[in-house]
Amino acid sequence: MLLPHFHLTLLVNLHWSLATPLSLPAIIRRAPGFHLPLSRREINTGTPRRLPKQSAIGLGDYFDVTYNVLVQVGETLAPLVLDTGSSDLWVLSGPCSTACFSSTVPLYPLTSFQPSGLDVRLEYGDSLTGTFAQGLVGMDVVGLAGLRLQDQYLAAISETNTKVMQTGSAGIFGLGFPANSIIWNKLLASRVSREASHEIRNSLSFQTRVVTGLSGIHGHNIPTMLSDLDRSLFPSMDDVLASFASNGPLLPRLILTGALALPIVAISLQRDTVDLGGNQGMLSIGELPAGIATEDLTWVPLRGYTTAEGGLPAPEESPNEIYPITWEVAIDDVYFDGRRLSRSSLAAPNISLTALLDTGNALIRGPKDVLDVITAQLGGDTYDCAEAHTLTFQIGGRFYPVDPRDFGSQTSGFEDNTSQCTPNIAPTDPPSSGFLYSWSIGDPFLKSVLVAFYYGNLTHPSQDQPRVGLLSTVPPDAAQRLQAAVQLSNATLGGNLPCASPAVR
Ligand SMILES: *[C@@H]1O[C@H](CO)[C@@H](O)[C@H](O)[C@H]1NC(C)=O
Ligand SMILES: *[C@@H]1O[C@H](CO)[C@@H](O)[C@H](O)[C@H]1NC(C)=O
Ligand SMILES: *[C@@H]1O[C@H](CO)[C@@H](O)[C@H](O)[C@H]1NC(C)=O
Ligand SMILES: *[C@@H]1O[C@H](CO)[C@@H](O)[C@H](O)[C@H]1NC(C)=O
Repeated sequence: MLLPHFHLTLLVNLHWSLATPLSLPAIIRRAPGFHLPLSRREINTGTPRRLPKQSAIGLGDYFDVTYNVLVQVGETLAPLVLDTGSSDLWVLSGPCSTACFSSTVPLYPLTSFQPSGLDVRLEYGDSLTGTFAQGLVGMDVVGLAGLRLQDQYLAAISETNTKVMQTGSAGIFGLGFPANSIIWNKLLASRVSREASHEIRNSLSFQTRVVTGLSGIHGHNIPTMLSDLDRSLFPSMDDVLASFASNGPLLPRLILTGALALPIVAISLQRDTVDLGGNQGMLSIGELPAGIATEDLTWVPLRGYTTAEGGLPAPEESPNEIYPITWEVAIDDVYFDGRRLSRSSLAAPNISLTALLDTGNALIRGPKDVLDVITAQLGGDTYDCAEAHTLTFQIGGRFYPVDPRDFGSQTSGFEDNTSQCTPNIAPTDPPSSGFLYSWSIGDPFLKSVLVAFYYGNLTHPSQDQPRVGLLSTVPPDAAQRLQAAVQLSNATLGGNLPCASPAVR
């Protein structure tokens, strides 16, 4: 999750956007055989007679900057940022001080919240963008598209410097793995510290070693508690793995409790700027979207992290297990306008090239030296919006271009009438220790593909490998469509490309 500072500045110019309160009706697309007529009211009434095994819901798109999905937390129906780059679920809660000024989003009132006695500080982004959200850890009923889980741990946030409410969001819904959940790590740490003797606890200076999350000045740190500490202090790995089902994030818990037909979510993000249209914005849970078959996608395994790299230890009876931490896949190469870009010299050559697929990131973030080559090829920091530029990621041997309509954003909104665009790229920290990805590929890329996030066997990944499936949705005439949109805006809109912000449907 990298929050979109960059774009929020831009959006201030769109006066009609921030003033319009978002209305958030929920409509569920019906999957064949599974009719899930879910709306705000139905989510709120009692438990469905039978848990649906799969489901699909539309996404709210805030000017292509954040994508929201409606999640029921206790009695509150909250639009949350869909974030494959993190693993925790949090909502802005009342009382909320500085964070919630002029908030148009519902605040979670804590009436049904069961506090755990722990608090948490969640940190997002890299050394350049780091933001935080802090508050209490506790449980409540959480519902998503008609699926409901009791006793789901979440954070009720009372203080944050994130700008989620400016994009009509009441929090973040992380779709990642338990190992990357700060809440799961904290609960485990608190259990270990309860069970460990005083002496051991003191010698460990526990508080300072407990998870710090994705913070850190040099690179992205992963929760390191499990790999850092003496294994003998821990409950058995079987216990640790069993705690995924009780203390883990929402999606892994839905999978482990058998609520889903398949351990999968598929996401396609729509485009609501430049040239309206593109993918249908959709979150499908437990199956691929209608009309898409497994073999239509190219599947690539996730990067696993060994214990030495900060990954979870393997259980004794299955010593070869290597666990993923986040939705990170190998990339073969990156191309710009048909030219292969050299590898970054900022990362150690023995770190294999990978990318995080991150719906919570409004940009494409990569190594600074490689981005400099792109900027040089463009001839500067901006370019004429009518020029079609293609940034392509080669993954699993196939080419996945970013649609030229999503490569840049018009540099200014109303009044300036500029025809200049700024590329949707930004530098990020090189990998060192912690996460090993060089690229964090956000929404501009994810509007150009359908991505299936397949969790596999969460406790024994060797039994069913976690992987990602990709299907490019860029039309062959994307460049012509871009030029037509620019010409049309020249003729009818004073040069301003269209922009819309539909709420969650
Ligand atoms: C990569 O090389 C560095 C030394 O240049 C070493 O410290 C590090 O452990 C190596 N990493 C891997 C994953 O082999
Ligand atoms: C995951 O693998 C373990 C070990 O083989 C097995 O016991 C468990 O049933 C598997 N889980 C699922 C959901 O298939
Ligand atoms: C848009 O209009 C400007 C000035 O009227 C012109 O210079 C530019 O070439 C036009 N762009 C396109 C793509 O038609
Ligand atoms: C931009 O275009 C609009 C609509 O065509 C026009 O009213 C306005 O004066 C233009 N602004 C500038 C700075 O050229």
